[in-house]
Amino acid sequence: MKVAALGESRPGERRVALVPEVVARLRAEGWEVVIEAGAGEEAAFGDDDYADAGASILPAGSSLGADVDVVVQVNPPTLEVVERIPEGATVLSFLQPAGSVEALRLLGEKRATVFSFDRVPRISRAQSVDALSSQATVTGYRAALAAAKHLGKFFPMFMTAAGTVPPAKVLVIGAGVAGLQAIATARRLGALVRGYDVRPAAAEEVASLGATFVGLGVSAEGAGGYARELSEEELARQRAGLAEEVANSDVVITTAAVPGKKAPVIVTADMVKAMRPGSVIVDVAADAGGNCELTVPGTAVRAGGTSIVGISNPPATMPTHASYLYARNVANFLQLLATDGTLSPDWHDEILRSSCVLRSGASVDPSMAALLGLPVDDELGIGAATGESA
Ligand code: NAI
Repeated sequence: MKVAALGESRPGERRVALVPEVVARLRAEGWEVVIEAGAGEEAAFGDDDYADAGASILPAGSSLGADVDVVVQVNPPTLEVVERIPEGATVLSFLQPAGSVEALRLLGEKRATVFSFDRVPRISRAQSVDALSSQATVTGYRAALAAAKHLGKFFPMFMTAAGTVPPAKVLVIGAGVAGLQAIATARRLGALVRGYDVRPAAAEEVASLGATFVGLGVSAEGAGGYARELSEEELARQRAGLAEEVANSDVVITTAAVPGKKAPVIVTADMVKAMRPGSVIVDVAADAGGNCELTVPGTAVRAGGTSIVGISNPPATMPTHASYLYARNVANFLQLLATDGTLSPDWHDEILRSSCVLRSGASVDPSMAALLGLPVDDELGIGAATGESA
């Protein structure tokens, strides 16, 4: 079995899908590994490190041999990458299927089998392949550090000979994987932290980290443990309830997301106006539209005296460990695809069924098949089971 990790071309991307330590593990598990030259450079992994771990280095941009079974990346493959992928290969990355229509259509024509990390189910057994979670952990950590960097105050309380400094007040909106990590990191830095989420289950998790849960009475538990989208009336109620919390915070970190939807706008321009001068908002939902009305992705802007930091692709800001965790998710996923040294996915496995987008060039989701102009693979009954569509 042969797996190839190719470089990334998304602007600002610094992660890589395999790291040398994981290459050594894959070699021990019977995989041949190919790495595109320079693919790990931005994450601090050199070609020599990969070669020492047992990988062969592919000249940048050159075509992949027909014997490559699996191609792994972080971002959806570009059309140029799809061109290089051999017929019938398996592709694994964050596919974001709805945003990768042309690439998927071409992959379908190549009879590729495609798995997307966005679709890994939230079940205990899937935790080791849950790249959304591993990357969200990085996101939350970086969000708290970005807030500390932009705030002109200490996070912890200081009692010094020159006087006592009170701790910073941090509010984290959205207490999923990223939000909980932001809470934990801000707490470690000594801030007074409050956490808010629309899922009632989040209250216990926030409290377990030593933060205070903000309860507003707006509950929106959706399918699969995720939140559902709020109605306009619920959003208005939420904003009204949060206005005072936001105004009283030195830092607001926003991480709220609803799968497949634009991020909810929770912090309005009026709420920003009511914040104290010097306050900081860090919005990690920036790429999905932002949780703050004034967020600009990839940049820090000022509104009155408040800095609004819209972090674009947060895990890419910490590429070494983000890649390290992602590569482990990849290796664990590859283990699910292989039995006794051959690529033979067990199609009864819920993890593979849920994360599969194309199987041998056919779409597992009927509505997406129509969009892509590809045949439907109804043997697995996946589209019907999940009700998912592009
Ligand atoms: P996410 O990235 O989809 O969303 C982030 C957070 O925003 C969520 O906690 C969500 O409830 C919250 N949110 C959405 N709309 C909001 C609004 N209007 N106001 C405030 N908050 C809002 O979430 P993530 O991190 O993917 O976690 C979703 C669920 O999946 C959680 O229950 C988490 O514990 C669970 N999970 C389970 C795993 C497993 O069992 N393998 C692995 C990872 C997460």
